[in-house]
Amino acid sequence: MSGHRAFRLGVLGSGRGSNLEAICRAIDERILPVELGAVLSDQPGARLLDLGRRHGARTECIVPTTPRGRLDAETEGKFVEILRSENVDLVVLAGFMRIVGPIFLAAYPRRIINIHPSLLPKYRGANAAAQALAAGDQMTGCTVHYVDAGVDTGEIIAQREVPVEPGDTPDTLQARIQKAEHELLPSVIATFAAHE
Ligand code: GRF
Repeated sequence: MSGHRAFRLGVLGSGRGSNLEAICRAIDERILPVELGAVLSDQPGARLLDLGRRHGARTECIVPTTPRGRLDAETEGKFVEILRSENVDLVVLAGFMRIVGPIFLAAYPRRIINIHPSLLPKYRGANAAAQALAAGDQMTGCTVHYVDAGVDTGEIIAQREVPVEPGDTPDTLQARIQKAEHELLPSVIATFAAHE
């Protein structure tokens, strides 16, 4: 990026978009000096698409031809084309329930990050809070990491610890982890924007 224009984000998600909400709040409060270029989803009707629209981002839903898991090449190509046309500098996966593949990784080398609700390398994949509870852990947390070809395997960028409390259920623990995510993710994005 040249430094003459704003640092632009692309956010991909499949659901509620509370992390996108935290990003938008930080932008509005001028804590996060970035622009939201595009918000993309694989799920029609995902709440995060409404949030993106209200924030002035280009929003698109592309339903992959594969039912779950890996993105098909054609869908990846479409996502990348939109992100490129919106001059996105950093791609943020925030609750995107798909595995990105080689087209995406080649288009944005070390420029795709993901937020995950555990202290990686513990509890990759789904239901991380429930897994931490089942293991009897007293401390869990969240991680922002670079995305690579695996599931939650990329290099760790930053983590935040969250205590497990007596009486926690997977839902109460997940909610506490999400509060930490909402601080951690905007702060990591700010670091990327500052180093461009
Ligand atoms: C977050 O807990 C994130 O760690 C995981 O998916 C969830 C997305 O939540 N990858 P939201 O859609 O941002 O509310």
